[in-house]
Amino acid sequence: MSFDPDAQPYFDKQKDRRVCFITGGNSGLGFYTVLHLYLHGYIVYIAGRNRQRVEVAMKKLRSEALIRRANQNAHELENRHLGELKFVELDLCKLKSVEHGVVQFKRQEKRLDLLILNAGIMAVPYGKTKDGFEVQLQTNYISHFLIADRLVELMQDPDVVKDPRIIYLSSVGHWFTPFPFKLSWQYNYWPNIVFTWFRYGMAKTAGIQMIRSLCKRHSNILCVAVHPGFVMNTNLFSHFTRLPIIGLFFWVMFQIFGWLFGVSNEEGSYSTLRCGLGADLTAAKDNGKYFATFGVQEKPSWTARNIDYACESWAWTVQELRKRGHEIEN
Ligand SMILES: NC(=O)c1ccc[n+]([C@@H]2O[C@H](COP(=O)([O-])OP(=O)(O)OC[C@H]3O[C@@H](n4cnc5c(N)ncnc54)[C@H](OP(=O)(O)O)[C@@H]3O)[C@@H](O)[C@H]2O)c1
Repeated sequence: MSFDPDAQPYFDKQKDRRVCFITGGNSGLGFYTVLHLYLHGYIVYIAGRNRQRVEVAMKKLRSEALIRRANQNAHELENRHLGELKFVELDLCKLKSVEHGVVQFKRQEKRLDLLILNAGIMAVPYGKTKDGFEVQLQTNYISHFLIADRLVELMQDPDVVKDPRIIYLSSVGHWFTPFPFKLSWQYNYWPNIVFTWFRYGMAKTAGIQMIRSLCKRHSNILCVAVHPGFVMNTNLFSHFTRLPIIGLFFWVMFQIFGWLFGVSNEEGSYSTLRCGLGADLTAAKDNGKYFATFGVQEKPSWTARNIDYACESWAWTVQELRKRGHEIEN
């Protein structure tokens, strides 16, 4: 199965303005997601924690877009317009920074067509954020929950936003916790190298549950979760590959695994792009679905699909955010 991003619809910001907000668009597969959206005419706000890293990425994105356009013929160029790239400062490990980033975005935009909850960390040592959440849970799930809650209002007016979409970057790693769990479980046990995967799996399952709940609450918005494929050359693996001495062993192992089963960083963006741009997907027909490598639909774990568990996770998250002074409307 393959997917061709160039065959997806293009937008002209002068006639049909489309706005995307993406977390973690400066690196890995997020970089290519932004590149294609930019080539398709989107105004893309890249929410990142480090201005310099995002600005360097934006420079690379602009020059890569020009190279790709140089290979297109006159007819293609006539119908294809570049969008815009913008930076929003936002650190997912700090809820205050998330609120601040969202406010900055809302000052500039009154509409949102595409929300991509992409940023993530994987299998890092146990640690807590200043907000008191386990670091993988907050980065991969809690802060994205808060962003979705704050931005969903910009996706509601059907006269303004015709086809709103929310995409959550989950992972096949959500299968590490296929059994029912409570989000309060910390999995802070020895050895970390085993239990860190439970923490990752739980956060990525909670993200799918969030999507299931969001589409029940906002049936006008296409809400889906994706697994991008095994994309071994992103920074996601850097905790392992930077370990002294055994880091090299991990690097070799990941390269071999990637060679056998992986896809490139660019191909890793295809499942997100299929869900973000694919004209065949609709909220009425596809809400709550899970798409894997190249945008092929798959079934996530039973725990991720079960709506009762999704409601439990939703209630826990709302309560925990409220305790920390972040009111959630619904
Ligand atoms: N690669 C894979 O094989 C794979 C498989 C399944 C799922 N995924 C998921 O795909 C998504 C993208 O991963 P990737 O492979 O492209 O990894 P990546 O290259 O490490 O990109 C992760 C992005 O998240 C950002 N980020 C991390 N912590 C943040 C924070 N506290 N605040 C704001 N931004 C933060 C990073 O920003 P900085 O540059 O500032 O660190 C970076 O832009 C993740 O959600 C990951 O779980 C990846």
